[in-house]
Parts: sequence; C-alpha cells; structure tokens
Amino acid sequence: MRKISVQDLSPGMLIDKEVISEEGVVLLERGTRLTHWQIANLRNWRVPCVFVDERQPPLADMPSPYLSTAAFLGEYVRTVDAIRHTFEHIRVFREVPILEMEELVDQRITLLAETVGVLDYLYEIRLHSDHTFQHSLNVAIIAAVLGRWRKYKGAQLKDLVLAGLLHDIGKLFVPQTVLDKPSTLSPREFEVIKRHPHEGYTLIHNEQRLSEGAKLGILQHHERCDGSGYPGKLAGDQIHPFAQIIAIADIYNAMTSDRTYRRRLTPLAALEAIADQMHAKLETGVCLTFLDNMREHFTGNNVILSTGQRAKIIVLNTRDRYWTKPVVCIPSGMMLDLQKEDISIVELIEEG
Ligand SMILES: [Fe+2]
Repeated sequence: MRKISVQDLSPGMLIDKEVISEEGVVLLERGTRLTHWQIANLRNWRVPCVFVDERQPPLADMPSPYLSTAAFLGEYVRTVDAIRHTFEHIRVFREVPILEMEELVDQRITLLAETVGVLDYLYEIRLHSDHTFQHSLNVAIIAAVLGRWRKYKGAQLKDLVLAGLLHDIGKLFVPQTVLDKPSTLSPREFEVIKRHPHEGYTLIHNEQRLSEGAKLGILQHHERCDGSGYPGKLAGDQIHPFAQIIAIADIYNAMTSDRTYRRRLTPLAALEAIADQMHAKLETGVCLTFLDNMREHFTGNNVILSTGQRAKIIVLNTRDRYWTKPVVCIPSGMMLDLQKEDISIVELIEEG
C-alpha cells in the first residue's frame, strides 16, 4: 500500500483503502479501479492523498472520458464564464486570484483536456464572445494535450496548464480597439501589444504558488528559437520548455480561430504553418511531438474539397510538409493525391 497525492493519480490505479471525505462521505471503496471522473471528483472534494495498491500497475488502456458535443459545449461555456470572472478581477484589481485559477485547472480544464476528441470540439465551437477568454482556455487545453504527449504529468502538467491559462493576462491591459484592429497596427500600437508578456509576468512574478517554469512560460511565450521573438530576444534553449509548448498551442489556436481581421484556417493549414517554422523559430522536438500526434489524429478525418466533394484523408504524406495536400479517397472509391491535383481542402468535417 502506498500513499499518493491526488495530483499524481492515474486512471486504472487500484484504491487500497476506503476514501472518506472530511464530512464523512465515503467517496471510494477499497478495490476501486480509478477512472478520470473519479480522480476529478477527488479533486472536487479536496482530498489531498489516497492509498493505492502499488503491486497493481495502472491500466494503460483505460478509456478517456467521453462527452457528447452538447455536454462538452455546456462545460466549455461554464468554464469560459469562470475565466471571464477571474480575468475581470485581474483587470480591476491588478492581482491574480491564483487559488481560483488552480481550481479552474483542477476541476474543469483538466477534464475538458482529457475528453475524447477535444481538439475537434475546440475547432467546432465558435462562441460570439471576447476571444481573450476563449483563447486562454483553448491554449490551456492544447498545452495540456501537448504536455501529456511530452510525458508531463502531475504537478508539472498542472503548472504548464496554469501557465497556458495565464499566458496572455498582460493583454487585459491593452485597449480592445488595438487587439481587434482590422487593419495593420502602427509601430506604436505594436509596441503596446509587445509589452503584454512582461505585463503578465509582472503580475505573477512574486506569486509563490506558481512555479518558476510557469512564470517563464508566461514571460517567454513570444520568444522564438532564432532570437526573433520578444520581449528578451532569447534564443534556443534559453527559452523555457513551457514557453516552447505554449508558443505552439498559441499559434495553432490563433490560426484556427476567426478574428475580426481574418477568417480562420483549417487545422491542416495551421499545422503546415507550424511545420514551416519548426527548424528556425519553434523548438523542433516539441513541434515533432505535436505534428506526429496530429498526423495520427487527422488520418481518416473527413474533409470537403474545393470541388465541393466530400473525401476522407488516407495518407498525410511527409513529416514536415504538404499538410494541406494529403492523399484522399472520394466517395467513388478513387484515390486523389492532392499534391498532384489543383484541388485543396476547404473544411474539415465530423461526419462523412
Ligand atoms: Fe501572447
């Protein structure tokens, strides 16, 4: 029997001692095989530790939680509202309610990020609200997904997700007219925007509950490996791994979201843009983890072609190019190699 922090639990672990809340409620019986939902429930009840049977390894193939589109949307909207509330607090009081933010990560964002098909849901959901809240949530979720692919877990993963959630809090002090400006920014306006990583860092750099990595993730998320980023013009491994992950999550979500000044790209076009930057501006290893997993994710996906036909992605050809030019199968059963055709993918769809 081993005592383990709830933060470090994994689905499939075997509970070796009945778990009882402070109020005397039996939350889990001895012998329970843990699911994602039960772990989330333990967090909700603020249970710090439980006893597990260390001789029983966690099951690697435990199913992830499934939520219908409607259920995911409901949970997502409630989370955006909670973020709006906490960000308003930050804007008014210039202070980050860090405990509330941690609760958001523990009780809501982690669950959303673990939902089967979460990346498809993020692409489907388009709310008519201030995009800063949605963007912060989406970057936190994508950072959680990419962080898990990079083998982060427990407290370290939570720190990364928190940094993703807070990465743009400095923008809360940039005028909305500048953020949403449909035309090119003046040099002066661009300078104002470029201050946001440092503004955000200033708000949290004395926060003892936040790790150094999370703080650097916020400060450095616009740094680029070739030294072309801001605010510090850092290069290569001067940039913290959290910032490298958040940069990719940020770029992917920004490109696949509508803005007042442009329409969104398909995920494949966004992945192609990330692949273009992976040997210069973005960290190659983190990019490859993202691209390799995304290739697996989108193989078999249904799409609409510029001809109006539906098709299914059969092969995404190479590691770093041609994301928007896969081999697809059209309803007649014919294969089309889009690299050899003057046809493009205009949309990804769920049903084929
Ligand atoms: Fe940013």
